[in-house]
Amino acid sequence: MSIRDTLNRPLRDLRISVTDRCNFRCVYCMPKELFGSGHAFLPRDEILSFEEITRLTRIFTEHGVSKLRITGGEPLVRHDIEHFVAMVAAVEGIEDITLTTNATLLPGKAEALREAGLSRITVSLDAIEDEVFRQINDVGYPVDRVLEGIDAASAAGLGPIKVNMVVKRGMNEEQILPMARHFRGTGHILRFIEFMDVGNSNGWRMDDVVTAAQIRDTLDAEWPIEPLDPNYPGEVASRYRYRDGAGEVGIISSVTEPFCGSCTRARLSAQGELYTCLFGSRGHDFRALLRGGASDAEISEFLSGLWSLRADRYSELRTEETAHLPKVEMSHIGG
Ligand code: GTP
Ligand code: 5AD
Ligand code: SF4
Ligand code: SF4
Repeated sequence: MSIRDTLNRPLRDLRISVTDRCNFRCVYCMPKELFGSGHAFLPRDEILSFEEITRLTRIFTEHGVSKLRITGGEPLVRHDIEHFVAMVAAVEGIEDITLTTNATLLPGKAEALREAGLSRITVSLDAIEDEVFRQINDVGYPVDRVLEGIDAASAAGLGPIKVNMVVKRGMNEEQILPMARHFRGTGHILRFIEFMDVGNSNGWRMDDVVTAAQIRDTLDAEWPIEPLDPNYPGEVASRYRYRDGAGEVGIISSVTEPFCGSCTRARLSAQGELYTCLFGSRGHDFRALLRGGASDAEISEFLSGLWSLRADRYSELRTEETAHLPKVEMSHIGG
């Protein structure tokens, strides 16, 4: 049975963070000053087990969830992740399982992920020029490692691959055209993301945002583009095609053109808190229910109760002031 929130939005997507760890320290997501050797990551026993997440997934499907996205941190650093994919792939009602990754660990895992039932993959990559990329990931990973990961995923049949590029002024806006040039004609779909005020550690200011309109104009001036219809209602990215036939690009404009009206996403942190918005300050504690002996029916009721009260539409309300409110970090709920 499908549940609706106060704005009549159903619950369709569950985005699952399986770890708060990552092998990168992207300057806008896990800056070294805050996520250095002194940072306390979640201890193992505080993280939901695969069995616990699978049980929740089953309950969530009863309320309309059919699409899963596995995130982190970096989900591929979690041991035996392909086993987890197989577990959730076996849940009745799950039709689409995707995973967001920085791609560095894909060469060894793409094949196993595909066999386990992963449908597709999304790769985060913010620059194609090696020097710029190393500055952003801040741990010296070369861009070639990511490109090898993309190739491995493609060879394993996990395409078409979406490549997400967060655009931040002063960090990588001069990479917009080089990235587009690199991915044109490859069959991979590059998507430009407006830099958002997620969490409280990235020092977001409106001035840092390169707007969707600016990105569109930059592309269009080099290679004319035209809009495409969404693949499904509520698709986050606006789609465009190159008029010369070199494929598709997308723009995700959560800051200047918000899409809260069609937001059907819930996010589960690695420690089992459910956030009904990416910009939430606190989650609902499902781990306490799981470990406190709650029955499936009780967990189910808790979920429908909280979803029916949901009124989140942060991106429609954002101002320079709201940006400073306490919010969950991206590395905690994975974007
Ligand atoms: P598919 O269409 O299934 O491929 O996925 P998607 O378009 O939802 O893409 P993905 O999960 O890769 O999201 C891309 C980026 O869009 C994320 O990294 C976020 O930056 C942003 N995003 C996704 N969902 C939301 C959302 O609910 N709210 C906001 N504000 N941003 C979002
Ligand atoms: N704004 C937009 N996207 C972000 N991501 C991380 N931080 C931000 C931000 N402040 C993206 C990552 C990755 C996904 C998980 O979220 O680059 O593509
Ligand atoms: Fe890791 Fe992705 Fe955050 Fe970079 S943006 S630190 S790859 S989780
Ligand atoms: Fe959904 Fe919150 Fe993003 Fe709006 S800001 S689209 S409600 S997650």
